[in-house]
Amino acid sequence: MPDTITMSDERWQQTGAYIREVFCATDHGHAGVMARAIAAGLPAIDAGPDTGKFLQMLVMLTGGRLVIEVGTLAGYSAIWMARGLGQGGRVITVEASAKHAEIARAEIDAAGVGNRVVIRQGKGGEVLPALRKELGAGKADLIFLDAERSEYLTVLDTVHALLRPGGVLAIDNALSAQRWVSDPYGPGEAIDTMDKVDRAIAADKRFISTVVPVGNGVLVGVKI
Ligand code: DHB
Ligand code: MG
Repeated sequence: MPDTITMSDERWQQTGAYIREVFCATDHGHAGVMARAIAAGLPAIDAGPDTGKFLQMLVMLTGGRLVIEVGTLAGYSAIWMARGLGQGGRVITVEASAKHAEIARAEIDAAGVGNRVVIRQGKGGEVLPALRKELGAGKADLIFLDAERSEYLTVLDTVHALLRPGGVLAIDNALSAQRWVSDPYGPGEAIDTMDKVDRAIAADKRFISTVVPVGNGVLVGVKI
């Protein structure tokens, strides 16, 4: 779990620890993925086992044929989601950094899901519109955003077009990235990027959405 932003309330910390202890006790090799990535200089900002398992379950619930992820890092969440795919399903994961993409390729292959995961190198803002052209509209069961947060609202129309009706938009760090979203703002403090994203999607009538307070918070929106 990343520790860049921590919730001050002890009970919140205990709750997260409880969920990870009771529901995420089996590692399935994920800790090794991040240990090797951190040793190679990547930041410790993986989704964590609680969010990873939740994503795997979302993939299973949506039928798991086509999943698109933005923000591969070392492949941690892609491996979780690949394990939720149905037969013949695939994850297309988009990563801006060539170094991260190379590490992720090796980790995803070593995890035994290499034939189900395609890595596309590039920024979400460029690769998502390309995928929209290549795949056509309405094909994705789930799109998970965990990358450059200032891009999310810019790509929202493309994300909406890529999703099938009933498909799911999931966004990491819906509660905590640069700051804890529900903390009161100081005088003159600019609105936090994720706060803006949360509020925009909550008000967007094309999705039914809420935030599930697992990990750093996962926004879940179902395309109507
Ligand atoms: C950061 C990014 C993440 O995606 C995350 O889950 C935690 C922290 C960060 O940029 O600090
Ligand atoms: Mg994240």
